[in-house]
Amino acid sequence: MRAAVDLGTRLGDYHLESPLVAACGTIGSVVEFAEVADLTVYGAAVAKSVSGTPWAGRPPPRVAATGAGMLNGIGIQNPGVADWLSKVGPQLESIPTDVWGSAVGKDAGEFGLVAERLSPSGVTAIEVNLSCPNLESGRMFALDPVAAAEVVTAVRARTDLPIGAKLTPNSEDVVAVTAAVAEAGADWVVLGNTVWGAGFDIATRRPLLSGVVGGYSGAPIKPIALRCVWEVSQALPRIPIVGTGGVASGSDVVEFLLAGASAVGVGTAHFASPRIGRRITNQLHRYMRRHNVRKLPDLIGAVQPW
Ligand SMILES: Cc1cc2nc3c(=O)[nH]c(=O)nc-3n(C[C@H](O)[C@H](O)[C@H](O)COP(=O)(O)O)c2cc1C
Repeated sequence: MRAAVDLGTRLGDYHLESPLVAACGTIGSVVEFAEVADLTVYGAAVAKSVSGTPWAGRPPPRVAATGAGMLNGIGIQNPGVADWLSKVGPQLESIPTDVWGSAVGKDAGEFGLVAERLSPSGVTAIEVNLSCPNLESGRMFALDPVAAAEVVTAVRARTDLPIGAKLTPNSEDVVAVTAAVAEAGADWVVLGNTVWGAGFDIATRRPLLSGVVGGYSGAPIKPIALRCVWEVSQALPRIPIVGTGGVASGSDVVEFLLAGASAVGVGTAHFASPRIGRRITNQLHRYMRRHNVRKLPDLIGAVQPW
């Protein structure tokens, strides 16, 4: 007889039925994705980031395969929060898992406004995408503990929903940024977003992306994301972590849990295989049964020292 395993996990007070989180920007608005994939295998699914006003994004080409992982330079194209609320908001009720909204903005005020407007729409948490450029300095908010904390403070003031602060692996000191956003009121951190990258077509001699430098994601960034999770879980064990970067299998999920994540994002893997969440879930079940792990939290941070 198969021993029952429980995939439930927590991000602070927030309970997830499964540790899998469908990562922002890789499942569209969530609504289209629900038509092709079984969303019940995810603890939560994150809708594409939205800003206060529409953002056109960058011109094409803005996604490219690299042979190992992918590059994107979409520039967070989105229709703005008003359009999102009229088109996506009313459909959230039909989505069979929790949907998190994702807020972006050019300054802390815009983030706060978006969070406030998203909050009554049916989303159950707000992810704060701190990997977009700050209007004042042009640098990503997530590179700077002060700027990142300012944004989270503005969001905290305008929503009662739990807040996840999405940070960047490009940061020099991800622990300092995590400490700052936790102090400002983030309930968890998402570690992390894409890694800066570039590529060139040797036939045309053109950059693969119109903006040349973009976000690199997929399997090759997993060790970078795991390093971020490990550093933060060691330094700040009380802040829950959603580990994200290069996850495509049940073993990848277990690695992130061992490093100290309480939940795990799945992003780029959806482009090759939209139904991969089901396969990852089955693999995770098999691992837990084989290793006699009944409850998922028993794996969190459960690294054996040398
Ligand atoms: C095409 C694409 C679009 C993305 N758009 C967003 C976005 O709008 N907001 C965000 O917070 N992250 C966005 N991301 C980042 C992913 O959510 C994820 O953090 C990152 O890709 C690393 O995980 P992965 O290697 O599993 O893809 C995007 C990633 C890709 C590949």
